[in-house]
Amino acid sequence: MATMADVARSAGVSVATVSHVLNGTRPVLPHTRQAVLDAVEELGYTPNTLARSLVTARTRSIGLAVSAISNPYFTEILQGVEAAALEAGYSLLIADPHDDPEHERKVVQLLHERRVDGVIVAPSADPRGLLAYLGRHEVPAVFLDRLVDGPGTDGGPRFDQVCADNAEPTSRLVTHLAGLGHRRIGLIAGRPGLSTTSERITGYRSGLAFAGLPYDGRLLVHGDSESAGAEQATESLLSLGVPPTALVTGNNAMTIGVLRALGTHGLSVPDDIALCCFDDFAWADLFSPRLTAIAQPGRDIGARAVHVLLERLAEPDGPARTVRLPCAFVHRTSCGCPSTSEEGTPP
Ligand code: HPA
Repeated sequence: MATMADVARSAGVSVATVSHVLNGTRPVLPHTRQAVLDAVEELGYTPNTLARSLVTARTRSIGLAVSAISNPYFTEILQGVEAAALEAGYSLLIADPHDDPEHERKVVQLLHERRVDGVIVAPSADPRGLLAYLGRHEVPAVFLDRLVDGPGTDGGPRFDQVCADNAEPTSRLVTHLAGLGHRRIGLIAGRPGLSTTSERITGYRSGLAFAGLPYDGRLLVHGDSESAGAEQATESLLSLGVPPTALVTGNNAMTIGVLRALGTHGLSVPDDIALCCFDDFAWADLFSPRLTAIAQPGRDIGARAVHVLLERLAEPDGPARTVRLPCAFVHRTSCGCPSTSEEGTPP
């Protein structure tokens, strides 16, 4: 197997020059650089990243722990993380903690033992064990999608975090439905303990207040962030003495459960009950009616988390920050608006 010394000999340069070309650590004259790359190609040289890691104490790898990877929203996040990591010359180790706090701590420990340079985690509803581990071992970490903390001692966040805006878009769905005349608007909320859930509930309540509608706790049910939970929660809403005339769903998986329950009851959307969804997904415009939804910037969230982590690695003592990315209102017809209104432009 060819070594760096073989490449240096073949290109007529020093081993240090080969290293600078391959690692981008110093500018090298174009013709010298090309001679090195030609020698690499000709000899079939592949760098030994393990040996390099022993010297640099860095592995140029990132650990990603995200639950529900099969959920299209998290798949988009994964694509964003992967593309940004690749572009920066980092490889990725991926784990799925299944939203289980103990599993989550364990997989992050395994990633850390693999000596990833840092981790990106979408934390569970109870991340205390995870936070204790990361703090004890001083693992550079960025949290994604769900926030883990209140303010630190200086009033700013304690951790780097990247997430979508949740409250304002949810409020927008509620005011849109209220604008169409609905007075009893239900919310199928996600799993308690997740910041995404509480922020979307905040948005629901502020949307009601903005529209001058009273908050009625019976219209807010928890679907546990999943399809089956949402199906059950919708059943309970439909069995109310006066059921809601419109529903807002807290995420894509719960939208599926809600549609199942409505189908079981023979209710058609939007004639019998209007529907607005948090989370857009690739086939949302194939449903009949087409789903009015909030689209989260999944790819951007993933890519931004990588950038924030790399900035943290470059400046370990800088202040922590929370990056919030805006969502888009994708206006279709499940809200009850006629199909002639232009998609993406709510009235
Ligand atoms: N958080 C935010 N959005 C989502 C989630 C989640 O856990 N699941 C599906 N959409």
